[in-house]
Amino acid sequence: MNDKLTIKDVKIRGQNVLVRTDYNVPMKDGQITDDLRIRASLPTLEFLRKKGARRIIIISHLGRPEGKKVPELSLRPVAARLAELLPDAKVNFIDDVAGPDVEEAVEKTSVGGILVLENLRFFPGEEADSSDFAREIAECTHTDLFVQDGFAVVHRAHASTDAITREMTSVAGLLLEKELTNLSKLTTAPVHPFLIIIGGAKVDDKQPLIDKFGKIADKIAVGGKIAADGYTTPLSTVYVAEDFVDASKRDIGEKSTAKIVEMVKNAKTVLWNGTLGLVEEPEYAKSSTIVAETIGRTEGITSVICGGDTTGFVENLEKTEPDLKFSLISTGGGAALEFLSGDPLPGVEALDDK
Ligand code: 3PG
Repeated sequence: MNDKLTIKDVKIRGQNVLVRTDYNVPMKDGQITDDLRIRASLPTLEFLRKKGARRIIIISHLGRPEGKKVPELSLRPVAARLAELLPDAKVNFIDDVAGPDVEEAVEKTSVGGILVLENLRFFPGEEADSSDFAREIAECTHTDLFVQDGFAVVHRAHASTDAITREMTSVAGLLLEKELTNLSKLTTAPVHPFLIIIGGAKVDDKQPLIDKFGKIADKIAVGGKIAADGYTTPLSTVYVAEDFVDASKRDIGEKSTAKIVEMVKNAKTVLWNGTLGLVEEPEYAKSSTIVAETIGRTEGITSVICGGDTTGFVENLEKTEPDLKFSLISTGGGAALEFLSGDPLPGVEALDDK
C-alpha cells in the first residue's frame, strides 16, 4: 500500500472526483440493516469536501443483479442514508450510471455536492471489466480523479476497480488505506502472542486463513459450525472447540468459551473471523458475546474483526456496550480474507504508483 498514491498525495481543489465505495450493505424489506460500509466511507468524503473537491460522484454496487435492473437492489435508499449521515452536504441520486441524464445530473450538482449513481452491476460492463463502460462513466461524469475506497470489492477485477483506473489518475481513499495498513500489520509484523479466532459455517472460506497463519499465529481457536461439524487439522497450534451448548450444537459450550477467553487475555494481537455460534438466535450468541467483550475490554491488544456476520454482531454489541474497543472492524468480507491469505488485490494493484 505504501507504494500507491492516496488522496493525501494529489491535488483535490477544484477537481471533479469519482469515488468507488462499497455500499453493498445488508437490506431487509427495503431497509438497510447495517450501515457500517456507508459510515466507513465518510472520512474520505469529508476529506475531499474539506480539501475543496468541486463535485463528488459516487459509484458502487449492491448485491448480485447480474447485469440486469433489479429494483430492490437500487442504491437509492443508500443515497438517502448517506444524506442523513452528511447533513451539511447536498447528496443527490440518479438512477443511471452513464449517458445524457447522468451528464445533466452531474452539471446540476452544486460545488461541494455529492451525486450517487445507480448500482453498477445493473450493467454487464461492470463485472466484465469493460473499458468502454468505464470510459462512458468517466466521460459523462467529467471526472478528473478516481478514488478507490471500496475496500470490500478490491478483490474483484471489475470496470469500477480496474478498467476505470486507465481513464484518469487513480488513488486510494482513506478507508482503503486504513484497512490495508491494519491488515498488513497482521501479515508482516504481528505483536506476539498472536491469536486467531475462526468461526462461521464454511470451512472452505476459512481454510486458506488457517493455512496462511498456521505458522505465523501462536494459536488458532476454531469454533462455530466448523467446529461442530468436527473440524480436524494436524497443526498443533490449532484448538478446536470441544463442547457445545446442546444437541443442536448451535453454539460452543462453557468449557471451550473459557479456553478462548483465556487465550484472548494472554494475546497481544487478535484476529477474529466468524461467529462462534448461530448469533442470529440470541440463545446461541452467548460464547460470541463473552469473547467479543473480552477482546473489547482487554487493554493493550491489537484487535481486528472481519467477516460480515462477525462485524455486524460486534457492532450491535457496541451499541449496548459502548466501552468495547477494537482496533479495526473491517468492512471487507471476501477482500479481507483474500488479502490475509496472501492473494493479490486487483483493485489495489491497478492504482497509480507513488
Ligand atoms: C462483499 O460484500 O464482499 C463485496 O461487496 C463484494 O461482493 P461480491 O462478492 O458480490 O463481489
